[in-house]
Amino acid sequence: MLLKAGISTLVLSLGMTFANMSSSVADSSPQHQAAAKTSQEFVQQLGRTMKAEMKSNGPVVAIKVCSEMSPKMAGDISRQKGWKVTRVGTRVRNPMLATPDAWEQKVLAQFQARANSGESFQNMAYSEWVDEPNGKHFRFMKAIGVKPGCLTCHGSQSDIPEAVKSILRERYPHDQATDYKVGDLRGAVSIKQPSNKM
Ligand code: HEC
Repeated sequence: MLLKAGISTLVLSLGMTFANMSSSVADSSPQHQAAAKTSQEFVQQLGRTMKAEMKSNGPVVAIKVCSEMSPKMAGDISRQKGWKVTRVGTRVRNPMLATPDAWEQKVLAQFQARANSGESFQNMAYSEWVDEPNGKHFRFMKAIGVKPGCLTCHGSQSDIPEAVKSILRERYPHDQATDYKVGDLRGAVSIKQPSNKM
């Protein structure tokens, strides 16, 4: 009895200690599951569109999948859900859109550490409740790995065709998103939900 009371006091005080900090969310929680489903659909749709464009129109035309269609899809999902859905990069081509904030940098570092210890990117995700100046938010990230098809635009100088290089140079003079190798962490889908939009 005493022991039980002792434990519940401990649990209560731990709970209070963490109440003002971020707390990670179990992968099985409905919020995590819903965000995982949305990010998976987004990435799969992007992947399919990229493959189809590369095949039928080649890399120069396919640039628009990453530069126009992806932000548009993310924007459409954001408006539908009332969430903020974006892609962030470990190194970025478009700093305006894809630079990770402090929380996202922390999670990207966690993903890198998990990859270093052998976890695949397939189901690598993380979510947390985060207290921000404008309220409590549910935040979720899903890792994106580099596949062979990504190298045409994110690989080494010898992977990227001349025609693509010259467009990238012109449109993205501050491009950092090259020299990736297959299996590298490219970035993540990042989802942020205000607590009233669960
Ligand atoms: C045909 C060229 C092309 C291919 C192939 C390509 N990308 Fe991109 N990618 C781009 C361009 C251009 C941008 C900049 C988008 C923008 O303007 O916001 C970009 C941006 C990104 C970003 C956002 C972060 C940033 O750097 O701005 C991610 C994440 C990304 N690409 C992942 C991938 C992945 C993963 C693949 C392979 C499945 C891939 N890309 C294949 C051209 C490409």
